[in-house]
Amino acid sequence: MDHRSDFSADMTAAISSVWGRLAKTPIVRGEGSRVYDVEGRSYLDFTSGIGVTATGHCHPLIVQAVQEQAAKLLFGQMNCMLPEKTVEYAAAIRDATPDSIDTFFFANSGSEAVEGAIKLARVATGRPNVIAFQGGFHGRTAMTMALTSSKGIYREGYQPLPSGVFFSSFPNAFSDQCDPDVSVDAALADLERLLKTQTMPSETAAMLIEPVLGEGGYLPAPKAFLQGLRKICDRTGILLIADEIQSGFARSGHMWALESSEVRPDILVMAKGIASGLPMSAIGAAAELMSKWKLGSHGGTYGGGSPLAMAAGLATLRVIREEQLIENAAREGDYLSERLRDSLSRLPHRTDVRGPGLMVGVELMAEHGPDKELVSLLQQECLNRGLMLLTCGIGGNVIRWIPPLNVSRDDIDEAISIFDDSLDAAMESRATVALTS
Ligand SMILES: Cc1ncc(COP(=O)(O)O)c(C=O)c1O
Repeated sequence: MDHRSDFSADMTAAISSVWGRLAKTPIVRGEGSRVYDVEGRSYLDFTSGIGVTATGHCHPLIVQAVQEQAAKLLFGQMNCMLPEKTVEYAAAIRDATPDSIDTFFFANSGSEAVEGAIKLARVATGRPNVIAFQGGFHGRTAMTMALTSSKGIYREGYQPLPSGVFFSSFPNAFSDQCDPDVSVDAALADLERLLKTQTMPSETAAMLIEPVLGEGGYLPAPKAFLQGLRKICDRTGILLIADEIQSGFARSGHMWALESSEVRPDILVMAKGIASGLPMSAIGAAAELMSKWKLGSHGGTYGGGSPLAMAAGLATLRVIREEQLIENAAREGDYLSERLRDSLSRLPHRTDVRGPGLMVGVELMAEHGPDKELVSLLQQECLNRGLMLLTCGIGGNVIRWIPPLNVSRDDIDEAISIFDDSLDAAMESRATVALTS
């Protein structure tokens, strides 16, 4: 095979077409909130790789930690040895998680960690079933597909999926156009009904919830709802699993999104921002619960995480602490939301700007339902002007803002200015199409 240093369409043809892609030209470099492509274009990356590059691209302390670790130990298999960095990381993450969580299992992807959490809940309770919530996204492996209901595409063609999964409502006052208390009461009543009619508490191991729906629309679970779940779990012995894969590690303006509702999880699932870009995930639980796993009954070649990821994870915790990224996410998130509300005030239909910290969802409605068309046009116009943004939501009508946790005020101002111009262009192009068709 000849060696080609230049990029060609033929080379990308060698990549599976299963991946949809926002920016098509290969990216060669990233720094802070920006990435640069092979043609020298720069983009403001407000996707953070779907919430992964939490400390920005190539933060110098993360790069240094990985480089130093790479020269010392690349891999240490957990059944064969105990890598020093895994021990250090476990102690550090214990200090950063809620008091109820003090023992950890490490893996590589979010899905793997959710699968592990379900296995742990089943074996610890001796109960088979799991309750997930409508609109949730938990991954694309067999069990996590079965737990996912954010879009039909993740399930279509793969059924039948593993059994023992039941869905309950996630409160959504904006889409139901009702008072938030009414939506919480209705969702809790739905859950109680499920526990009476379809999966008895005695056969329900766990409830799995994203404290802020990610893929399902960047929708925070109201405090009263989360507290209601905790009460039901306490009453029934069902375990509460918090999937903080996207909302964790300061993203919400708290270390964990659950903190703002003062609810403690029985099992905490973490990934994405955990190691600023290296593949790593974790399951946290109380030592007594974790001890229910029989020796060797869960694991994997790479279970235990790579020392490189552990080094990056330690550096990430340090950067979050020393650069006060929790505070930055809360402050800049408020600023971003305020600017977005201003920008959207010129739209004729209902809009919503929501989300804790730097996990901001912008939902756009048309006259009779979700305005997916405007969101798609807007996303493309933003990309054309050098701003990368993702969308989400069951109706595909939510723009998600996930800049790095250390995003600067200047970067936000630049992004808003691009967004404003793009909104004008998107509305204009839609008006033109309407006139000519
Ligand atoms: C809340 C949540 N859970 C689970 C996952 C699955 O993680 P992964 O893609 O690393 O398998 C994701 C990924 O987007 C997620 O956002």
